[in-house]
Amino acid sequence: MFNKQVWIIANFKANKNLKATLEWVDLVGPKIYRESQVNVVVCPDFVALEEVKKAIQVGNYPLLLGAQDLSPFPPGAYTGEEPAQDLKTLIDLVIIGHSERRKNFGETDAQVREKVDQANKAGIKALVCVQSVDTPVPEGCQLVAFEPVFAIGTGQPDNPGDAERVAEQLRSKYGEKLEVLYGGSVTSANSQEFLRQSNISGLLIGTASLEAKEFLAILEQLN
Ligand code: PGA
Repeated sequence: MFNKQVWIIANFKANKNLKATLEWVDLVGPKIYRESQVNVVVCPDFVALEEVKKAIQVGNYPLLLGAQDLSPFPPGAYTGEEPAQDLKTLIDLVIIGHSERRKNFGETDAQVREKVDQANKAGIKALVCVQSVDTPVPEGCQLVAFEPVFAIGTGQPDNPGDAERVAEQLRSKYGEKLEVLYGGSVTSANSQEFLRQSNISGLLIGTASLEAKEFLAILEQLN
């Protein structure tokens, strides 16, 4: 349906425990099409990563694994942090600079840059969340998600045409190689409209990713 690589990324935030996460993986994993242009990624919380990795291997699912954050520092005396060096054996991708982290944890553009550096050094794909065309995209980052704050978790998505304009501006600012996803109140009812936009290469999905059935409805429309 699309002549581009597409990313469909489930961001569970702090919503699912290990048991519920594993149930979701075993419902969604077998239904993901192989050899398609769609990269499907699940981002559970840190404690689930190891078990989810095993479940993906045991089920041989074409499902990629992501984390929702990582440390801006290398391994060392940084209590509570998860260094990229430790995560790299588990994950393919990491979400960096989500607006919830910027708002609730005071994460700065400088820290986002450090985290992207750590991810790149470890060979983990960095997905940086930008809240507008003015949010800086660090050097070495090729994947961003445009997530207007008003649209996150509110049931009020951005207008697909407006999101397309921001995606286009981001790509003209940082280069055509930049892949831009959209996130913010995506559901199976509006996902196609966003993916139809020529500068939008995928979706970062929070609430609608939590129910396997709704997430699968989004994937099924792609096949
Ligand atoms: P939402 O969250 O789909 O619930 O709006 C998206 C996000 O925060 O990444």
